[in-house]
Amino acid sequence: MKITILGTGGGARAHSAKLLELGHKVIVGTRDVQTTLARTEPDVMGTPPYRDFLAEHPRVTLMTFGEAAAAADEVVINGIDGHNAVAALSAIADQLQGKVLIDYGVPYLYAHQPVHPWPTPWGIMPKLEPCDTDSLAEQIQRALPRTRVVKSFVTQEQTTVVDPASIAGGDHTMFVAGDDLDAKDQATSLLQAYGWSDILDLGPLVSARGMEMYAHIHSAIGFALGYQFGGHFGLKVVR
Ligand SMILES: NC(=O)c1ccc[n+]([C@@H]2O[C@H](COP(=O)([O-])OP(=O)(O)OC[C@H]3O[C@@H](n4cnc5c(N)ncnc54)[C@H](OP(=O)(O)O)[C@@H]3O)[C@@H](O)[C@H]2O)c1
Repeated sequence: MKITILGTGGGARAHSAKLLELGHKVIVGTRDVQTTLARTEPDVMGTPPYRDFLAEHPRVTLMTFGEAAAAADEVVINGIDGHNAVAALSAIADQLQGKVLIDYGVPYLYAHQPVHPWPTPWGIMPKLEPCDTDSLAEQIQRALPRTRVVKSFVTQEQTTVVDPASIAGGDHTMFVAGDDLDAKDQATSLLQAYGWSDILDLGPLVSARGMEMYAHIHSAIGFALGYQFGGHFGLKVVR
């Protein structure tokens, strides 16, 4: 299948590499191809320049966000920075018409001045916006009514999402939520191809609120386990 990943960040790279391994044709979207290829320094998170990744994965096709969305057979993964995702996706709504959009974005607002800051090993914890009474996934679905949005992957590091067996032999839980059952089935099939067996359907897209808010406890668990950011651990719903 031709699967598109919108984004060149660390998470998007994990999906790109795994999907190539699974035999798919992988198309990656970026704002501006030449600008992305011209970068020679790691980003603020220490992620190496995209040209290095491309040199190691020459079968990836890099296009603009719009071209990449249009090129997908059906499934598009959204790996655009959460705070900028609605605007970027709205601009390519026509190219995403009819597609299944699996969103793993966290709507972090990095530049904020909280009254009661949460100090982290690298600064102040970003703020979730929206939060509680709305979610990024719902905002995307409202902005793109002709696209079938599924929220998934977001409760894990994407390196874990594409390799669940690397933790407890894969005995942990992944979630999906969305209003379109067929779209959710497609996201579930992709997760099964990645190796997930415990996939819990949280029902309609409104459940994305909880999945996105989980980002804070994921960070807290990571800090408790000694990770600066993220962490290599799983979440198991025992029942
Ligand atoms: N990495 C993970 O394991 C992980 C896990 C769970 C959730 N998440 C969440 O998933 C999202 C993506 O994470 P990531 O680590 O894969 O990548 P990221 O570094 O957060 O985002 C990189 C992508 O965002 C795009 N971008 C940045 N600013 C933009 C703007 N103003 N307008 C349009 N596009 C913009 C970049 O475009 P260019 O390609 O043009 O530079 C790039 O493709 C984030 O919300 C993150 O919090 C990540």
